[in-house]
Amino acid sequence: MSFNTIEANRRDGRFADREQLWLFGYGSLIYKAGFDYIERRPATITGWQRRFWQGSHDHRGTPDAPGRVVTLVEAPGEVCTGMAYRITPAVFGHLDHREKNGYLRFATEMTFADGSHDEGLVYIATPENEAYLGDAPAEEIARQIAESHGPSGPNRDYLLGLAAGLRELGAEDPHVFDLETRLRAIENA
Ligand code: BEZ
Repeated sequence: MSFNTIEANRRDGRFADREQLWLFGYGSLIYKAGFDYIERRPATITGWQRRFWQGSHDHRGTPDAPGRVVTLVEAPGEVCTGMAYRITPAVFGHLDHREKNGYLRFATEMTFADGSHDEGLVYIATPENEAYLGDAPAEEIARQIAESHGPSGPNRDYLLGLAAGLRELGAEDPHVFDLETRLRAIENA
């Protein structure tokens, strides 16, 4: 099942008149961009936490056997570490297509390592989208990730790449690191 968000994102004119803007990445963008950017910097956003609650039917799974990828869930006071990319609006088209399965653009303030702030964009898959899977026991999520494969490769590579990228950033993320530990245990069993 899929929910194509390309049109909704195209109608959203925010930032389209800017020559450059910041995009906050918290998933695969932490370890891989796949588009041209002007610069990138570690950054944080407040009030959100990363969760493997979005189904992936088109990248890390299939319609019959969806994988799981991250989205952001509102969490007052929580700080989410990621990677900010300074891009031109031309990159939207690429991202809208790549993330068409449920991700919508939201405006957010982000904070950089030097303490400075700026507004930018973040793509979030909300519970209203049809590919949303929501919460499940951690062991079940880890097993689904261990077993899922899609056109972009094994779901386990996504989780392990994200965990390695977060470790490189010195980020705390108990949800991701717990799933990584469980995945390795499943694979070593
Ligand atoms: C990310 O990797 O941060 C991301 C980018 C687009 C949609 C969802 C997540």
